[in-house]
Amino acid sequence: MSASIQPPPPKLGITLETYIMEGMIGSPGATGHFTSLLNQVCLAARMITAHVRAAGLADVLGYTGQTNVQGEAVQKLDELANNTLRSVLSRRGHCAAIVSEEDDEMTPISDDPRAKYVVVVDPLDGSSNIDCNVAIGTIFGILKKRGEGGLPATKDDVLRPGRDLLCAGYLLYSAQTMLVLTFGRGVHGFTYDPGVGEFFLSHENIRCPEKGSVYSINGGNSTRWSAGVRKWAAWIKEEDKATSRPYSSRYVGSLVADAHRTLLKGGIFAYPADTKSPKGKLRLLYEANPMAYIFEAAGGAATDGTSRILDLQPTETHERTPLVLGSREDVETFARFLREG
Ligand code: AHG
Ligand code: MN
Ligand code: MN
Repeated sequence: MSASIQPPPPKLGITLETYIMEGMIGSPGATGHFTSLLNQVCLAARMITAHVRAAGLADVLGYTGQTNVQGEAVQKLDELANNTLRSVLSRRGHCAAIVSEEDDEMTPISDDPRAKYVVVVDPLDGSSNIDCNVAIGTIFGILKKRGEGGLPATKDDVLRPGRDLLCAGYLLYSAQTMLVLTFGRGVHGFTYDPGVGEFFLSHENIRCPEKGSVYSINGGNSTRWSAGVRKWAAWIKEEDKATSRPYSSRYVGSLVADAHRTLLKGGIFAYPADTKSPKGKLRLLYEANPMAYIFEAAGGAATDGTSRILDLQPTETHERTPLVLGSREDVETFARFLREG
């Protein structure tokens, strides 16, 4: 399916596979390569779900003893998810390369002439929550290579603003496993039925409310925040019925979980720059960009506090950015506090 043409609005209960196929059928000139790639991503999602659900029993909890390019201790599930994605995406020859949080550099996958796409991925998001059974996830985006299929992917294919994404989605491994997916307009949620081994549409056309009443930020960093963020954090806690303050505070510590709640209920998630992480903590290519693409497609907003995330021009594969996600009005209020300092 050439994702430039939007699939028809799905119908509740439709399977993910049918939704993707209908999208391809509805796209004149579709070659099926994008559809095939997306089906592979969803197969990897089902395999990772199985690993996550059995993690406590299958000795895949805990650490590998290595550290990744981020300098973070690698968990067995990080590595397992990464290897699953790489082996599945290597099977059909539509994926030219993968940019993964767990790999130092972009990993070439296929030089098949049909390999016209690059996948950016955080294979396992929320690693610090794995061994205490708190919600974790997988975040991905799909870009079309600039050059023709068959030519090796280069940094030029991936160091691009997030607005160039064809598709973005995330898996949330929580009480249920959900896949949230968008091609730029319309965001749909599919819930996994482990008895059937299939995702079914459960949340049609998710819209992020214009304004919410929940804020999500790691308050443990408050002494490191700028004056503007500290003033915003104090303001959001004040008593004021007219602006439904104080907001409730919710913070899981897995971006996928905090973002998913914010997408459905509205409000704001913020991981601002601070004195410890002057460029923010979250990675632009495979955390901020896919999430920003999803939030904007759902009518929400995503900035680095001042600029639109999807307009940021990456210069390095693993570069970090401050990230403010959520309801348009709440994200704008946050930006105002940053402007006023
Ligand atoms: P990852 O596990 O992929 O490294 O991502 C962890 C990120 C993100 O999931 C979350 O929003 C953030 O780290 C939480 O950071 P703090 O623990 O510093 O709040
Ligand atoms: Mn992450
Ligand atoms: Mn990760």
